[in-house]
Amino acid sequence: MKFEKNILCIGAGYVGGPTMAMIAYKCPEYRVTVVDINPTRIAEWNSYELPIYEPRLDEIVRATRGKNLFFSTDIEGGIRDNDIIFVSVNTPTKTFGAGAGMAADLQYWEKTARQILQHSESSKVVIEKSTLPVKTALAMEKILNCTNSSISFDVLSNPEFLAEGSAMTDLENPDRILIGSRETQSGLKAREALVKIYANWVPREKIITSNIWSSELSKIVSNAFLAQRISSINAISALCEKTDADIAEVSKAVGMDSRIGSKFLNASIGFGGSCFTKDILNLVYLCQHYGLDEVAAYWTSVVRINQYQQERFIMNMLNTMFNTLADKKICLFGFAFKANTGDTRESPAIYIAKRLLEEKAEVIVTDPKALRNARTDMAGADGKVSFEEDPYRAAMGCHAIAVITEWDIYRNLDYQKIYDTMTKPASIYDGRNILDHKRCFDIGFNVYPMGKPPLTHF
Ligand code: NAD
Ligand code: UGA
Repeated sequence: MKFEKNILCIGAGYVGGPTMAMIAYKCPEYRVTVVDINPTRIAEWNSYELPIYEPRLDEIVRATRGKNLFFSTDIEGGIRDNDIIFVSVNTPTKTFGAGAGMAADLQYWEKTARQILQHSESSKVVIEKSTLPVKTALAMEKILNCTNSSISFDVLSNPEFLAEGSAMTDLENPDRILIGSRETQSGLKAREALVKIYANWVPREKIITSNIWSSELSKIVSNAFLAQRISSINAISALCEKTDADIAEVSKAVGMDSRIGSKFLNASIGFGGSCFTKDILNLVYLCQHYGLDEVAAYWTSVVRINQYQQERFIMNMLNTMFNTLADKKICLFGFAFKANTGDTRESPAIYIAKRLLEEKAEVIVTDPKALRNARTDMAGADGKVSFEEDPYRAAMGCHAIAVITEWDIYRNLDYQKIYDTMTKPASIYDGRNILDHKRCFDIGFNVYPMGKPPLTHF
């Protein structure tokens, strides 16, 4: 079959896989290939058990794979045969050398640019899908155009705004698609080609274009703003606990102001996920690089409050369980960084579990989708930690339950049954405020919500 367009994506991760699956699903006349250096990941994409869990992802991959969606390790062939190339490789925080702990590590990105240059036999449109520091496209252009060849490369920025757990819905109905380009004749032509791909299912008014640097920066700023809202509400949750105010009531009242809006105002044990902290640190690094120290300090405080919130949660457990957690059994309800994903990258659960072990507590982890990743995260941790899929069995004999992830299943468990099997006094620390606190209290639990007065029998 002859396809109208051939599209390649380099990087088959949480972004590359779902994004390309959606393009293939919405555009049966395009042939979409996703390549990766990791053969295990590609084998999983080609199997019945996909490497990531996302609601509806299975269904969409099943409908397209082998028809117009292909997963492969042949990166060279992919570059040769496709003229539109998305790059969605990882851009983690640098762990070494200058900028360690803050700047983005661009080694995977640069290697990909060099690979594209080496294997291209025709002109290409190269699209930044990864989240990158502003001006990365300039480096990309310099690498791609460093030879005198007649092959030309146009670099576009097309950041991805999907959130895990709702990736397929976000991709199907995005708030906006952002495409940044050079304002040259060929830059505008490349931009139009990309607009046309999205226009297959996204309303034209939601596809916005900008200069390339605004596009790169907008992605990082969007994440910084979202994270800033969470740190703001979490900071206020600490004040609520001192003043008998209730964070849910405050959040509702504040969020009803249409200028503020109600989303992303849920107090929690802190934000996790692979991007918020990484992207804010990257923003801070950028500001410092340009001598904007006050701006850098402002954004640093968002990450600080996030760390403070996690430590506060642990200290509350310690203080309310008679100042010792040694040999106490504590069950973590959830390990994923949010509900509806198996992803545990930067999950507050990792910090909380390790801190509990430091206090010599025994930790039992339960989660419906994230136990495989949780085992890897906790491998080598010093202390007693075990994993149990069934929340009822996980809580058995425990002194306390800590709700870490807002999975729906935890809302509707039989807490009387759970209470009956636990060591007394039994406590619940609801780091997500998802349980019926009054009901748990009436059963006999001491209940410690986030940002609300505790309900205790002492
Ligand atoms: P990921 O780690 O899940 O996937 C990246 C993939 O790239 C890996 O499978 C890795 O093997 C592959 N890779 C690395 N170097 C390669 C190379 N030279 N050739 C081929 N493959 C290579 O990462 P992710 O979560 O998909 O994130 C990718 C980018 O998208 C990051 O910049 C991230 O900030 C951004 N982003 C992520 C999300 C999200 O929800 N995870 C959302 C929006 C944007
Ligand atoms: C986030 C952004 O929402 C996406 O737009 C962006 O594309 C993505 O980062 C990225 O660049 O990686 P994601 O991290 O998948 O998406 O999930 P979110 O829904 O943003 O949640 C992030 C964290 O904040 C989670 O730990 C979540 O539990 C927490 N959160 C969220 C709260 O604590 N309170 C809230 O009110 C909302």
